[in-house]
Amino acid sequence: MSFRAPEGTHDILPEESPRWRRLEDASRSCFERFGYEEVRPPIFEYTQLFHKSSGETTDIVEKEMFTFGDPEDKAGTYSLRPELTPGTIRALVEGGLLAKKGVWKLWYLGPAFRKERPQKGRFRQFTQLGVEAVGSADPLVDAETMILFSEILKAAGVEAWELRINSIGCLQCRGGYREVLKNAVRPMLGTLCDNCKTRFERNVFRILDCKADAEKTRNLPPAIEHTCETCKAHMKAVEAALRDAAVSYRVDPRIVRGLDYYTRTVYEFSSSALGAQDALCGGGRYDTLVKDMGGSDVGSVGFAAGAERILLAMKGEAAARRPLDFFGVAVQEPQRAAVFRIVTDLRRAGLSGDMDYEGRSVKAQMRSANRSGARYAVLVGPDEAAQGRLKLKDMQAGTERAVTFDEAREILKGGKP
Ligand code: HAM
Repeated sequence: MSFRAPEGTHDILPEESPRWRRLEDASRSCFERFGYEEVRPPIFEYTQLFHKSSGETTDIVEKEMFTFGDPEDKAGTYSLRPELTPGTIRALVEGGLLAKKGVWKLWYLGPAFRKERPQKGRFRQFTQLGVEAVGSADPLVDAETMILFSEILKAAGVEAWELRINSIGCLQCRGGYREVLKNAVRPMLGTLCDNCKTRFERNVFRILDCKADAEKTRNLPPAIEHTCETCKAHMKAVEAALRDAAVSYRVDPRIVRGLDYYTRTVYEFSSSALGAQDALCGGGRYDTLVKDMGGSDVGSVGFAAGAERILLAMKGEAAARRPLDFFGVAVQEPQRAAVFRIVTDLRRAGLSGDMDYEGRSVKAQMRSANRSGARYAVLVGPDEAAQGRLKLKDMQAGTERAVTFDEAREILKGGKP
């Protein structure tokens, strides 16, 4: 019997993991440089959390969640997290953190799950890396999150990207814009796709997001012309900060985002190196979510990016595996125990090394040593075993010398060969 990984999931095998590590290390170091602290919410939450935050009528909540548990259970069912924003805010509110400090800048990196139709760059289990800056309404923080993501792309070596931003207004001005948009869409509604027809009633803004009807809806009035003066000033300040930081962007009235909690600034980074699923990162401001979830009335902004998509867009060299410092070789079977002891002691001294576990000949062990890329082979034969010494072979120079364990350790640690 053989098994396959579930549809829409993928294994990260050893030859790929160095690229993952490079992206994760680059992200972590950018997050920390910008003053963000790590948070790790659980992988599943009560389903209700996502209904109340991501939004009851969003595709994600309506169609894409993996939900389990007993519906009769008083506490409700659970869902695998389709995004990390709700869990992060829940954790912050539940932990009473906002009473301790005004602004929390948090980052996360971990799996998310959406029951979507898999295709290139779209998975059912994928990895999100992102930030949530909670507690400030300052437009500079909106810009900071975008600058931060552009730094991650730079560090990861992704060159072909575009940032598009928009403002979808606040609670005060969105109602007015909703009416303007509905009046403009109504005459063409019959010609739009079924999805848009449903969206007309439930969330008319998302009609702007529809790729199928993009041509027909091209001239609909943009949100930005209908936002209030405070929202307009906010957007201007975000743009000024991006220009100051020399981060190029384009205002795109079609960016409305597929989650319900956004207010004012919304943005997406995309890459021409990807196919239809070209969004590398999506984010924006959500000034009402924390209060809606039982916290204080504070502004927030954040983004999440799909790690798999960044990797697809990353210029391709497979980063080489870091070679081992040494490879232990037993000249004959009786010396295997001594080799194992030396290997263990050298590892305990902070060096990286391995040995043969297949009981192979000394020639075959030397081939493995070569393949491992180790700079040195550490050999023990009957003579070395008798004298409590070992032989160090420089795999590049081809030279050999008998040394004590302490000498070997110093040489391997970077002393002179
Ligand atoms: P989102 O736009 O739904 O936003 O997802 C963010 C990113 O996750 C996307 O741009 C994409 O790169 C990646 N992504 C989403 N779905 C998939 C999938 N099925 N397969 C592979 N990658 C995917 C959010 O999740 C918000 N929580 C972002 C946010 C944080 N807004 C404010 N704070």
